[in-house]
Formats: sequence, structure tokens, C-alpha cells
Amino acid sequence: MEKELKIQFEVIQKENLDFIEKQLYDSAFLAREKAYAPYSNFWVGCAILLENGEIIVGSNQENAAYPTGSCAERTAIFWTSANYPNVAIKKLFVIGAPKDAKTSVPIPPCGNCRQTILEYEVKQNEKIEIYFASLDGDIYKTNSIKSLLPFSFDASYL
Ligand code: THU
Repeated sequence: MEKELKIQFEVIQKENLDFIEKQLYDSAFLAREKAYAPYSNFWVGCAILLENGEIIVGSNQENAAYPTGSCAERTAIFWTSANYPNVAIKKLFVIGAPKDAKTSVPIPPCGNCRQTILEYEVKQNEKIEIYFASLDGDIYKTNSIKSLLPFSFDASYL
């Protein structure tokens, strides 16, 4: 028996974002400028909106021992959970491109980051909206990390 999974996402232009989404775009954009990525030269910024209205940012942090480094999303989400363990995450915005790029395409969170975001979405039992953006202002949006990670593994299987 064949089955089908449907994934939905929205394509949005920066000028059509609402006020808070625009703030998140700008926060991720600025966070990207603080990346430490001397090995890949690929700079990524992430901005997280909490239910209390605060915005938390992070950037990728690389290491000479490559796997030791952290993506922007995990830098931001681990800091968030460490400091606001009981405050729900509403939205997560990511933007990445080579350091000197002037234009780019929306880059989605990597597999490790998807699994990490899933952990917190399951923990808080409330969807996290994921936005991934380009330097040009093209944005893809999903309403839950589950759209980016179908057949996901979580604690319910343990
Ligand atoms: N990177 C992120 O920060 N987030 C992603 O979702 C994709 C990849 C970083 C990791 C590494 O520092 C650089 O981009 C190149 O892979």
C-alpha cells in the first residue's frame, strides 16, 4: 500500500512580514554578522521569539576540531533552554550565506538542528514556526518542525 506525506510551507517576501517577524529577520541578519566560522566561511544567524516577547539570538561557532562546532540554531536554542527552561519558543528564524555574499537562497536548518528543535517542540507541546531566509528577503516558513522532519524520532518511542 502506497501512502503519501504532505508537507506545507509558505513563501513570503520580507516586505510582507509583520512587525515581529521583521524584527526576527533583522535580529537573525545581525546575529549572522557575529558568526565565528573561519573554516567554512559560511555565516549563519538565528533568532528565536519566546512567548514572553523576548528575542534570543545565536550564530554558528566553529572549531578547529570540526564536529565540535555548533550551528547557529543550536547555539540559540541551547542558550534559550538553559536560561528560559519554562518559556515556550514561538518562532525560530535562520539566515545563512557565505561571509561576503550579497545575495543568497533560503537555507533550511540542518538535520542535527531539526532534531534539536523537535526535542523542544515536543517538550513544550506547542508548535514552533520555522522561518528560513535569504539575504535577498525570500523566506520559507513552516508551521512546525515536523514539516521539516517527517517520521521524526522522539521520546514517545523510548
Ligand atoms: N550551519 C548552521 O549554522 N546552521 C545550519 O542549519 C546549517 C549549517 C553552519 C555550520 C557550519 O558552521 C557552517 O554552517 C557550514 O556548514
